Amino acid sequence: MRVLGIETSCDETGVAVYDTGRAGADGLLAHAVYSQIALHAEYGGVVPELASRDHVRKLLPLIRQTLGEAGLGVDDLDGVAYTAGPGLVGALLVGAGVARSLAWALDLPAVGVHHMEGHLLAPLMEDADPVHGRPEPPFVALLVSGGHTQLVAVDAIGSYRLLGETLDDAAGEAFDKTAKLMGLPYPGGPQLAALAEAGTPGRFGFPRPMTNRPGLDFSFSGLKTQVMLAWRDSDQSDATRADIARAFEDAMVDTLAIKCERALDEAGCDTLVVAGGVGANRRLRARLQAMAARRGGRACFPRPALCTDNGAMIAFAGALRLESGERSPDAVHVTPRWDMATLPEVRPGAA
Ligand code: KG4
Ligand code: ZN
Repeated sequence: MRVLGIETSCDETGVAVYDTGRAGADGLLAHAVYSQIALHAEYGGVVPELASRDHVRKLLPLIRQTLGEAGLGVDDLDGVAYTAGPGLVGALLVGAGVARSLAWALDLPAVGVHHMEGHLLAPLMEDADPVHGRPEPPFVALLVSGGHTQLVAVDAIGSYRLLGETLDDAAGEAFDKTAKLMGLPYPGGPQLAALAEAGTPGRFGFPRPMTNRPGLDFSFSGLKTQVMLAWRDSDQSDATRADIARAFEDAMVDTLAIKCERALDEAGCDTLVVAGGVGANRRLRARLQAMAARRGGRACFPRPALCTDNGAMIAFAGALRLESGERSPDAVHVTPRWDMATLPEVRPGAA
């Protein structure tokens, strides 16, 4: 089944075609992402109205481009998947409107995909590990993006139990806000991480919030305040900025790793799946891989380009749901706030 995936939940327009007739990464026939970063940079964050308008401008050309790269016409498609939530309502409506119109005009089945399920399943789209194979439920997922930080027990595909989440800022948001307060442009997460590479470890020490008490929730706003105070009282030189970036990243990586290990213990699992924009962080990847290996398990990530928002994860998650017979109602309906625990389980081959 060849499924067109459309992602427009925030500030990235993503389009892809996934073919379930091929295995793993081979099934990804083409994917393209257009990032609106430059559009929002001068405002220091995403402006919802500008995001919607830019999706309107970019989505159809991107669909044409992606189909062209896959060597396909619209008649070669068997289904359409689009992000139905959570996200910015206007931005979601652009993708849903285009997806539903295409599905109606081409008489194709269509399904609205939960954005975080898209992230969560992205590692399963990659080639199988030669030793361990592809990750299969049950596993624990760490979802770390600009809007979410969640630990989820995945009992089956589509069956998700929230184990813990952030009580305030998401991990990516904390990266972005910390970068901003030290003068880095939006979105600062990747730039802060790049700066941390040059930083001297140990010059600054920041707390590992909520790790010294039981539970799997996170809180990052206090860490951000600590960075603000350290930066305010420093010489604000380039070297200091890099040292603070390093200490912040160390605190972040440590905190996430401690909670992931605790979640694996509580769930009685060996496999950790990591997804979302912060999953592209090099030191987080290395740390979680080492932690999982030490326990005799493993940590699985999508390639960095598929950690951040993209259409491939929506095409893949949508294809699994369409293949199991799921269809969304014909209306252009989106769900800006949407609890993953309410999703139906995916039953392969049920269609
Ligand atoms: O998943 P994503 O593309 O969008 C959301 O659904 O939120 O995640 C974007 C977030 C941003 O906060 C960005 O700063 C962060 O992921 N991010 C990173 C890195 N790459 C992206 N944070 C730390 N290190 C990175 N290498
Ligand atoms: Zn995302």
